[in-house]
Amino acid sequence: MTESVGVSGDFEEGKAVKVDFAGFPVVVVRIDGELFAIGDTCSHAKYSLSEGEVYAEEREIECWKHGSTFSLRDGHPTCFPATKAVPVFDVAERDGVVLLSRSEDDTIDAKRGR
Ligand code: FES
Repeated sequence: MTESVGVSGDFEEGKAVKVDFAGFPVVVVRIDGELFAIGDTCSHAKYSLSEGEVYAEEREIECWKHGSTFSLRDGHPTCFPATKAVPVFDVAERDGVVLLSRSEDDTIDAKRGR
């Protein structure tokens, strides 16, 4: 499944943008021109990662509630208290449109760890 979640100009360098992908909240971040997309809901206590700080050099985003940071590359937490990864989505830009996708056999529920 692939869905458009906005246009290139919606995603400014270093800013976390929350989008909806088939009803699932996703945070999209552009760093050095490259887009990253991971599940927006913290795996610790369900707060929104898009409200946290982006660490561009580390390619991480911090959950504002308790301070876990998550890799924008693979969705894994890099410090406690979160211990479970959040889903990672494929992201692409085509003709100024930003597209998110995930493979058919990789359900969002599975990515939630359920
Ligand atoms: S809710 Fe994100 S670290 Fe606790």
